[in-house]
Amino acid sequence: MSSWAQIKENKKVAEGIYRLRLEAPAIAAAARPGQFVMLRVSHGLDPLLARPFSIHGVEGEDLLILYKVVGKGTRLLSLKRPGGKTLSLWGPLGKGFDLNVQRPVLVAGGMGIAPLGFVAQELESQGNDVAFLCGLPGMQGFEGLASHLSGLAMATSGRISISWATEDGSAGHNGLVTGLLAQTLEAGSASTRSVLACGPLPMLKAVATISAQRNVPCQVSLEAPMACGLGACLGCVIPAADGGYLRACQEGPVLKAELVDWARL
Ligand SMILES: Cc1cc2nc3c(=O)[nH]c(=O)nc-3n(C[C@H](O)[C@H](O)[C@H](O)COP(=O)(O)OP(=O)(O)OC[C@H]3O[C@@H](n4cnc5c(N)ncnc54)[C@H](O)[C@@H]3O)c2cc1C
Ligand code: FES
Repeated sequence: MSSWAQIKENKKVAEGIYRLRLEAPAIAAAARPGQFVMLRVSHGLDPLLARPFSIHGVEGEDLLILYKVVGKGTRLLSLKRPGGKTLSLWGPLGKGFDLNVQRPVLVAGGMGIAPLGFVAQELESQGNDVAFLCGLPGMQGFEGLASHLSGLAMATSGRISISWATEDGSAGHNGLVTGLLAQTLEAGSASTRSVLACGPLPMLKAVATISAQRNVPCQVSLEAPMACGLGACLGCVIPAADGGYLRACQEGPVLKAELVDWARL
């Protein structure tokens, strides 16, 4: 569904990272973890195309988006103030995570935290203990993101356990989050766990390999350039393990890892 939404908050949580709160009751009511929206950040012709953003959470009639400023669209978005002109968006789009899982391990690289925050809350509300592994280059400059995520975990009944991996060793596990994943799976009976991941492509490839080696079911949320978000433009196709292609905006963005042809991606 498409709608116009009022900005209720557009708050900087870390350097270049913002949390956007939109009043979008119909989309909020239908949203499932792992789905996304297409958001137009401008009322003019530039940029013309809407930008895809994962749904970071739902609070009442509000939709939360966690985004990083990387280019023109996200820079314009970061300048928007609450109470200004409404923004056009459509969604919820795509296939989200299957939450019928056992002993979930969430693996986020950088902004992969955005969809997995919603996943963690939903899994916890279903009575799961959630291991949430988050990887960052280093903690410096990201302290606000860490406290944002801790706040999210504390707002629940305490069944979400967050662990950090930093490449510079400034917090938590010293190294990549995939190393922390391997350790976590080795610590318990891996075959009864499920992995749900979102992050940069090399990280997702490694997560898929580590999970496959231990026979752990793995779902990944993949990013691809998206123009329409509706399955029409084919700009977002991902090579599939059966030799064909999958549209990230329709069959994904969340896919079982074994459906993806990682070598061709
Ligand atoms: C399904 C989906 C969900 C997403 N969810 C989020 C989210 O929750 N939070 C968030 O911050 N971002 C998310 N993204 C990425 C976000 O859509 C892009 O960062 C945004 O479109 C960039 O727009 P821009 O105009 O600022 O940058 P542009 O001017 O379009 O691009 C600036 C630079 O960023 C690069 N870039 C553009 N899009 C991407 C991308 N998807 N991945 C990597 N690099 C890119 C370009 O190659 C270019 O170098 C998601 C993408 C997809 C496909
Ligand atoms: S974004 Fe157009 S088909 Fe997926």
